Amino acid sequence: MLSFVDLFCGCGGLSLGLQKAGLNHLAAFDYWDKAIAVYQANVSPHAFVFNLANTEAAAESVSRYSPDLIVGGPPCQDFSLCGKKQIGRRANLTLSYVEIIAAVRPKYFLMENVPPIIKTEFFKKVYLAAAAAGYGLTYKIADLSFYNVPQKRKRLFLLGVLGGGENCLDVYWKPYVAKKPKTVREYVTENPVNAEWNFDHYFLYPRYMERRCTFSMDEPSWTIVSSFKRNPGPKFRPSPNEKYDYQTAPRLNLKHAMDLQTFPKGFNLFPEGAKISESDARLMVANAVPVNAGEFFGKVFSRYEAAKIKNKTTLF
Ligand SMILES: C[S@@+](CC[C@H](N)C(=O)[O-])C[C@H]1O[C@@H](n2cnc3c(N)ncnc32)[C@H](O)[C@@H]1O
Repeated sequence: MLSFVDLFCGCGGLSLGLQKAGLNHLAAFDYWDKAIAVYQANVSPHAFVFNLANTEAAAESVSRYSPDLIVGGPPCQDFSLCGKKQIGRRANLTLSYVEIIAAVRPKYFLMENVPPIIKTEFFKKVYLAAAAAGYGLTYKIADLSFYNVPQKRKRLFLLGVLGGGENCLDVYWKPYVAKKPKTVREYVTENPVNAEWNFDHYFLYPRYMERRCTFSMDEPSWTIVSSFKRNPGPKFRPSPNEKYDYQTAPRLNLKHAMDLQTFPKGFNLFPEGAKISESDARLMVANAVPVNAGEFFGKVFSRYEAAKIKNKTTLF
């Protein structure tokens, strides 16, 4: 069973997915104490408040666990479409992440980020640093509605295999991507869920004005961001493509957002004593790698590992 350490772990979406895929959790780190409290209540007590900008100390702490796999979604606002497109302090954490990997040298790593990073010089730096550290890299911008997540959420996943060839994970990844997107109705029918989904369509505040803001249950939702609950003000302009009246369409709450991010039923965002506000909780949920996407990538590494072991046994 592959073991993993989660860096920039948030409240644990990615970790939960890896556990669901059968991977063994060792430890997790994030500098946000509230996210760590939620992580400890739901995923594992082995989660620590830690500033990962301090790469040397981080590498030393992570090395103690000797993980097979390091995963992480370094903060991505500096690259995101709604950010200022200025590469700043938070973007440097992406490089810190690769520095920690290069120092610890796990067999595998996974990095999640927003798609715009791919067009930056910065991504080249990250790619070259990981390759120079000996990793064969496979990457793709994934629309997670094809990864058992009822949400059109596009994210970059960069996967590394120490001593592996370029794109060596392709065959363990791409054939397993679904042929059609997951609809909200399918997801809530197939799984125990947190919210009541007793409507046919709903309103979701768009990330950009004039983007569609009403959605049918028979399609994936749009990307969940922390402001998903905003109400349209007087200047709000719906898209010409709306099929439903946005003013009367049902609104989603935090529990609906948890379901769209595929958090398991009963995930507790408000552990006693942690003083989590509603907006803290919305941010944690929106920040997360959807649990089912984490499960998908856990299985990619497990398949590769199984094939490697099988090849070794055939040789001797
Ligand atoms: C995109 S979220 C990660 C979400 C997580 N992968 C999940 O699936 O739930 C990024 C996280 O990085 C954390 N973070 C930002 N700067 C940090 C730093 N210097 N050291 C440690 N964690 C940091 C934030 O608190 C946030 O929880």
